[in-house]
Amino acid sequence: MSTAKEVILSGIRPTGRLHYGNYFGALTHFLRLQERDANCYYFVADYHALTTITDRREIYQATLEMLRTYVACGLDPHKSVIYRQSDLPCTAELALLLGMVTNIGHLERGTTYKDKLGRLQDDPKMEGNPLSYGLLGYPVLMAADILIVKADLVPVGDDQRQHLEMACDIAAKFNHRFGETLHIPKALGRDALRLPGLDGSAKMGKSDNNTLDLLDDPATVLRKIKAVPTTTDPLPLDTESNEPEMVLPKMPPGVAVLYRLLSLLAPEDAYLDFLEQYRQGGKFYGNLKKEVARYVSEFNAPIIESYNDPAHDDAFIEEFLRENAKRVAPVALETVEACREAMGIGRSLYRA
Ligand code: TRP
Repeated sequence: MSTAKEVILSGIRPTGRLHYGNYFGALTHFLRLQERDANCYYFVADYHALTTITDRREIYQATLEMLRTYVACGLDPHKSVIYRQSDLPCTAELALLLGMVTNIGHLERGTTYKDKLGRLQDDPKMEGNPLSYGLLGYPVLMAADILIVKADLVPVGDDQRQHLEMACDIAAKFNHRFGETLHIPKALGRDALRLPGLDGSAKMGKSDNNTLDLLDDPATVLRKIKAVPTTTDPLPLDTESNEPEMVLPKMPPGVAVLYRLLSLLAPEDAYLDFLEQYRQGGKFYGNLKKEVARYVSEFNAPIIESYNDPAHDDAFIEEFLRENAKRVAPVALETVEACREAMGIGRSLYRA
């Protein structure tokens, strides 16, 4: 099996519009990995969405909209296998089997579960789903997603690291009890890039209302960038490093996010030029914001154009979802059948 291609898998929750945090945290990695000689599986975690989404009409529409944005950014359904989790219902079967080797105590230590538990204690009448069996089992379903395609590598952000470790633990336990059946993914080497929010808070997130979106038009971009809080007193330079020209001055959070965007989008000399202006002080934030807004709008323009291309309509998305589900089904069924055999119930008599 040493000649087998590397298998890469990641899941994305269908959250509708994609923001810069999603792009630089996940999507850039997907785009890079899709150019490797590997099998890339990227799926929309619509089963997982059921643990939080309260409006049932939202999930399907959000899935299509999000995939259209992914395609507009360059994710290619011919290169990567892009599918919907629920189009592979044998994932749910695998989750059921894995649930048999998963301790409840292990799941109760899951961060997603603990967060919700905490929030419910603060606000017992909280809107949305209750503390469900599905939420407790979130990591088991995620383990099934990963193990079902025999993933080697799972590029996820820091916030998903614990879930990934749980998947490895569950697989190891299964193999220990029932014999080597499941392929355990390699640990993740690199931390994902986390972008701060436009309000200067640590993380850009949809629920925090502090996002810059890939589909924002120039007027929206300008309005959002202008609203980034900037103070006029630069903080002193960080003098601890021994490579002074590489040192980023300590910046107020709002200013820091502008520089982060600049470093991601602008040519290096433009970035260094603004860094120099920061060091010298003075009133340049208005100009900085205008420039950042311009780079952002330039970045968004081709994405918006491709998003609106009639060739990328819902029918196109649905068609490739259907085709790609067929591409992933054989390997997924193979895994589920192997687990059934290992556990002693035997292969499905009806699935053939
Ligand atoms: N839980 C992930 C998130 O919140 C989404 C996800 C579901 C996932 N299943 C996965 C990610 C499997 C990687 C692998 O973003």
